Amino acid sequence: MTRLLVRDLAQVATPVAAPAPLRGQALGEVEVFERAYVLCSGGEIEAVGRMADLPPLDGEVEELDGRGLCAIPGLVDCHTHPAWGGDRAEEFSLRAAGATYEELHAAGGGILSTVRSTRSLDDDALAERVALHASWMLRDGTTTWEGKSGYGLDRDTELASLSAVRAAGGSPTWLGAHAVPPERRDADDYLDYALAEVLPAAARLADAADVFLERGAFDADQARRYLSACRDAGLALRLHGDQFTESGAIPLAVSLGARSVDHLEATGAAGIAELAGSDVVGVLLPASALFLGRPMPPARSLVDAGAAIALATDFNPGSAFTTSLPLVCSLACTQLKLSPTEALSAVTVNAAHVLGVAGRAGRIAPGLAADLVLLDAPDWRHLAYHLAGDIVAAVVKGGSVAYER
Ligand code: NIG
Ligand code: FE
Repeated sequence: MTRLLVRDLAQVATPVAAPAPLRGQALGEVEVFERAYVLCSGGEIEAVGRMADLPPLDGEVEELDGRGLCAIPGLVDCHTHPAWGGDRAEEFSLRAAGATYEELHAAGGGILSTVRSTRSLDDDALAERVALHASWMLRDGTTTWEGKSGYGLDRDTELASLSAVRAAGGSPTWLGAHAVPPERRDADDYLDYALAEVLPAAARLADAADVFLERGAFDADQARRYLSACRDAGLALRLHGDQFTESGAIPLAVSLGARSVDHLEATGAAGIAELAGSDVVGVLLPASALFLGRPMPPARSLVDAGAAIALATDFNPGSAFTTSLPLVCSLACTQLKLSPTEALSAVTVNAAHVLGVAGRAGRIAPGLAADLVLLDAPDWRHLAYHLAGDIVAAVVKGGSVAYER
């Protein structure tokens, strides 16, 4: 069995054991080992601790010199949109000149412009784009990720998107209800098509389903119809909600037992209280709020009220063109007023819960997957502190070095 010893690390930092998403004070409880090691064996973590407590190791062990580095768990990005063609650089310029995201969307640009360029790719080209985006994630320290479809909105492109995400190592989510494509009369007509023609095959390829519940996209009744059918087909449920308006996403997520409701930039006091009283995780996407110049989600109030939260990039060409969870951690600390420890738990163990993989990913503990990020820093908090810093020195995935700077 291949063994890898990462030795002489300045620090190892990991969230504590968590059978359920961490909330309240527990969100900020991170265990830190000074002058430490991580021992990986057969793709899993065998042991973690202080160098002073490292037992003598028999047999063949490959060693990695961790001097000057800190280890944290491989990062978990629980909300990305990686399956698209083209780009939105022109739209970015228009927004910089004052056009709003919602105006561009209503005029047939925005998401629908990416639908046009994604449909024009053949399956191999689309798979190449997804693999390229996955390689960017790895370099940013992401070892576990979710990837949504939603830029096809026809059967073949949606299914090709889900297959491409799986092939690139991600967990596919069918975002079949992202926008209404131009060839359909309205949202109800489109859902008739998507649920009859796409859902049966999508349910075999995907792990979860997602909907964009928002003015100009799908309303609460349409979202309920879509998600209920997806749940009956065996998919876990996610929602894009409260991005621009409170349109009933939190009550719907709670009543359907969704894994998460994501965005929440527009969530008010009642929504915060309802989410805090539920098992639904609030996934906060501060890079998207920053990129669109929108208000930040009420993260501090959510955590203080006892809601379970996670953080993710929302990587996509229109509202969040970044794969960097370290950048998201910086935004969490500077804009959302979370602590570095809360941010770390939110991009590791809690994000793993959203994806249903907390038994395998999100912490450095014996028996979990040997996925690590080695930070080029004397203190692991540089993860958030070094704004857009080049701090990912190496990434270990399944016990082997998958990326080295
Ligand atoms: O999560 N808001 C809906 N969907 C994406 C953006 C998609 C796009 O602009 O292409 C989001 O922000
Ligand atoms: Fe999104």
